[in-house]
Amino acid sequence: MRIIEALREAAAAGAPLVVAQLGQSLDGRIATPSGHSHYINGPEAITLLHRLRAEVDAVLIGAGTARADDPQLTVRHVDGPSPARVLIDRRRSAGARLKLLADDGRRRIVFGAPLADDPPGVETIPADAPLAPAAVLAALAERGLNRVLVEGGATTVSLFIAAGAIDRIAVLVAPMIIGSGPTGIALPPIDRLDGAIRPVVATETLPGGDVLFDCDLRGGQNVAR
Ligand SMILES: NC(=O)c1ccc[n+]([C@@H]2O[C@H](COP(=O)([O-])OP(=O)(O)OC[C@H]3O[C@@H](n4cnc5c(N)ncnc54)[C@H](OP(=O)(O)O)[C@@H]3O)[C@@H](O)[C@H]2O)c1
Repeated sequence: MRIIEALREAAAAGAPLVVAQLGQSLDGRIATPSGHSHYINGPEAITLLHRLRAEVDAVLIGAGTARADDPQLTVRHVDGPSPARVLIDRRRSAGARLKLLADDGRRRIVFGAPLADDPPGVETIPADAPLAPAAVLAALAERGLNRVLVEGGATTVSLFIAAGAIDRIAVLVAPMIIGSGPTGIALPPIDRLDGAIRPVVATETLPGGDVLFDCDLRGGQNVAR
């Protein structure tokens, strides 16, 4: 799988690489209108997500995903190390009692102010205003975290893509039509299709029927830089 190879090549070269993932239905939805999203993709897609986590220095999510899912962000379905866990939550709306902040020996970083009940070892980075993705990545690089998985949700992935901060994205399309509910990638509008982002794409059908679109954004057209 090219996205895994790219992460390994970057690790061997000591080079930065920022990847993202998004699971969605055939009609581009990531949840029902009530927010039910477990699980759009099948177990093989979950395994791929854990493989991606095992190849990066840090996995990053936005406050919305922390509030909705309270994910652990650890590697459990494959062999490999669990990465540092990063949360962008400048209002600290998700609070401190999150699984991803639990003190398990991994690094935990929050873009936001410290809370009194943060578990021991949580590092905070001041974030008084919306953060440019490049500034987020620079702060992580300063802390030795160069290969980053932007795991969700759609708002955070979209902000990073719009800023040209994502090198590759794995879009996993499930053979399912939800018909309503929030959509995945949402970017500032364009007038004409010749302004659309056209990544270089390799596809692969996973055993459960999900189709992986392994997208190289850097090799494509109309990617912000
Ligand atoms: N299908 C998938 O692959 C997948 C993956 C993960 C999550 N999800 C689903 O996605 C939903 C949550 O996604 P979401 O789009 O609502 O939220 P989200 O992307 O998880 O979080 C967005 C929030 O994070 C903060 N944030 C992110 N980037 C920021 C930046 N550069 N500067 C400042 N703040 C930033 C902001 O919080 P504030 O507005 O509080 O400042 C923003 O509103 C859940 O239903 C979850 O289940 C789906």
